[in-house]
Amino acid sequence: MTLRVRPADPGDADAIADLEQVALPLDAWSQALVEEGVGGRLPTTQYFVAEQGLLLAGYAVVSVVQDVAELQRIATAPAARRTGVATALLAAVDAHAAAGGAARLLLEVREDNGGALAFYTGAGFAELARRPGYYRDGTDAVVLERSVRMDP
Ligand SMILES: CC(C)(COP(=O)(O)OP(=O)(O)OC[C@H]1O[C@@H](n2cnc3c(N)ncnc32)[C@H](O)[C@@H]1OP(=O)(O)O)[C@@H](O)C(=O)NCCC(=O)NCCS
Repeated sequence: MTLRVRPADPGDADAIADLEQVALPLDAWSQALVEEGVGGRLPTTQYFVAEQGLLLAGYAVVSVVQDVAELQRIATAPAARRTGVATALLAAVDAHAAAGGAARLLLEVREDNGGALAFYTGAGFAELARRPGYYRDGTDAVVLERSVRMDP
């Protein structure tokens, strides 16, 4: 089925909050926070959704402040993984970051999240730093970085 990536709107909040619980259960954002973001009330933050038909296949959240973009979230519905959904979302994030004037794209990932680390490494990210005990359960964060791709 065709994959379509578009900016999120308030009608996407429920599906994003549901997937947040499934994909990032140790660190899930609240429904209220998601509603604030998709409602455009966080000035530097943009949500994107990937749709297959009417279903939410994934979403990504990026904030852009001057020359630095931060990938705050990226997640794919379990049934849609390894089909290029996150790759398509990351291309939209790069395009948004480039349009906003960012040169660097940073993110944090749990050091025990092997799947995400493999995805990011394959997408060209490299380790910049570690944040010991960053997550609620004491797990370290790995900070990854790469240049924003102007023509992803
Ligand atoms: C990490 C995640 C976003 C990847 O999404 P995805 O849509 O499956 O990724 P893609 O299909 O675009 O993968 C592209 C490539 O990345 C690599 N990759 C992706 N997931 C991988 C995994 N679990 N293990 C190893 N490599 C992986 C592969 O090289 C893959 O290409 P291939 O399928 O042709 O081998 C997804 O597994 C997810 O939602 N995980 C839970 C949420 C999460 O951890 N988010 C990141 C928080 S920092």
